[in-house]
Amino acid sequence: MSVKDKVIIITGASSGIGLASTKVLLEDGAKLAVAARHVDNLNELAKNHADNMLVQKTDVSDYDQVESLVKATVEKFGHVDVLFNNAGIMPVSYLRETRLADWRKMVDVNIMGVLNGIAAVLPLMEKQGHGHILATDSTAGHKTFPKFAVYSGTKFAVKAIMDGLHQEEAGKNIKSTLITPGTTRTNLINTIPGEKDREAEEKTQETATLDPINLAYAVKFAIDTPDNVSVNEINMIPTGQLV
Ligand SMILES: NC(=O)c1ccc[n+]([C@@H]2O[C@H](COP(=O)([O-])OP(=O)(O)OC[C@H]3O[C@@H](n4cnc5c(N)ncnc54)[C@H](OP(=O)(O)O)[C@@H]3O)[C@@H](O)[C@H]2O)c1
Repeated sequence: MSVKDKVIIITGASSGIGLASTKVLLEDGAKLAVAARHVDNLNELAKNHADNMLVQKTDVSDYDQVESLVKATVEKFGHVDVLFNNAGIMPVSYLRETRLADWRKMVDVNIMGVLNGIAAVLPLMEKQGHGHILATDSTAGHKTFPKFAVYSGTKFAVKAIMDGLHQEEAGKNIKSTLITPGTTRTNLINTIPGEKDREAEEKTQETATLDPINLAYAVKFAIDTPDNVSVNEINMIPTGQLV
């Protein structure tokens, strides 16, 4: 089954990689259920795609809201072919700053958000006899840097969870794909609390960056595969980025 007519849930769809993926998959005829905490722009987009698009305000750190998103998707489209667990935040800082609230938020959104998504769709996908779960980690989920310890920790966890999902579900016709972006020009840097840290990240973006649309085509490639093909990992970095 190609992208056309697949029912695809995307979290973190209001901006960046999630929004670009939403637009690319809509163009290809997929049925999209899109979620974020702020959905005004998604509601605007849905005006031209009423039959193919469901927009639901969802905080991925709250399991009940994610479960309700999946229920609404099944009510509108009948089933779920794909979940793209993409929502994430990156309030990076030095460990010595002890920003406990930011650490907790990263764990809640970046790790629990992915687990909430898996919990809400996996039993359904097993019942259907097919499914595909994608999640966005990061090159920082494979190697860490000063200020990135906790963010990296959450993304290392996403990688481990997706590896585990693959090990457990590969024989059950449920695919898993880890999308690993390098530096990408999105709103993610706005989640960095310190002005100097934010400016430092902006500087990195001046030298080497991907556009979210580059990742959107990678997401489409992973979804648009025949039943016998599973793309387990896509690691995409800007030309010029070292890791
Ligand atoms: N940009 C990069 O360089 C880069 C590199 C590697 C990995 N990534 C990863 O790529 C993913 C997408 O990020 P992006 O770069 O596209 O950044 P972005 O433009 O800031 O998009 C993040 C999305 O996540 C949503 N979100 C944040 N907290 C949420 C919550 N609690 N519940 C539901 N949605 C939430 C945001 O919408 P609301 O604020 O409206 O909820 C937004 O739609 C993230 O997992 C990020 O860690 C990004």
